[in-house]
Amino acid sequence: MSLLAQPKIGKNVTLNRSQLGQYVHLADDAVLEEVEIGDYTYTAGHNQIFYATIGKFVSIATYVRINPVNHPTYQRIAQHHFTYRASEYGLGEDDEALFDWRRGQHVTIGHDVWIGHNAVVMPGVTIGNGAVIGSAAVVTKDVEPYSIVVGVAAKKVGMRFDDALIERIERSQWWHWDHDLLRERLADFRDIDSFAAKYL
Ligand SMILES: CC(C)(COP(=O)(O)OP(=O)(O)OC[C@H]1O[C@@H](n2cnc3c(N)ncnc32)[C@H](O)[C@@H]1OP(=O)(O)O)[C@@H](O)C(=O)NCCC(=O)NCCS
Repeated sequence: MSLLAQPKIGKNVTLNRSQLGQYVHLADDAVLEEVEIGDYTYTAGHNQIFYATIGKFVSIATYVRINPVNHPTYQRIAQHHFTYRASEYGLGEDDEALFDWRRGQHVTIGHDVWIGHNAVVMPGVTIGNGAVIGSAAVVTKDVEPYSIVVGVAAKKVGMRFDDALIERIERSQWWHWDHDLLRERLADFRDIDSFAAKYL
């Protein structure tokens, strides 16, 4: 990996058991816990991301939170974290089973997804390739590839492209092209008709 391709990480970023691809940029003030992030994906700052797999070329705006984890609301009398973070309070061992339950509510985000400012992606959600999440949306259900969702709870307001074009984009898998090819084809990325004519 060239020096340029190393992830760029801002100030006050905490990475716990997480993996970053090439050209990943993480702006200031972020916490990532058990997250896998694909090449070229960036976060714009003030982000918390837990237990998630995020594709390539994903744009994550400021204050986006992905997988705000659940407390044991129905399973325990006390939902406060002393019952599982017991060691922090000198009350006994931590409860790993609770953390495993959270891991089971994994979030999966496809390639080239754009997540707007202050959106929240709730536990267990899957977002398809090319989707758009509007500012301040709360995403509680899976999001269809290339759809645009907004609101609390987020609902579909449209699609970016028709089915035929989506199928052609999916077949191209452009997100797996290497860096040299991206450079060579940059002008076409700036012109949808030329891109479609040449590569789809
Ligand atoms: C969702 C978004 C991409 C617009 O998509 P669009 O398909 O062009 O949608 P439109 O602007 O035509 O709006 C469609 C409807 O959704 C509503 N809407 C748009 N964005 C919304 C949002 N974030 N929250 C709630 N409703 C929203 C519109 O009011 C409109 O409602 P109506 O049909 O009742 O009039 C844009 O509004 C947005 O949220 N962008 C994110 C910007 C951002 O956070 N940038 C961060 C820096 S990267």
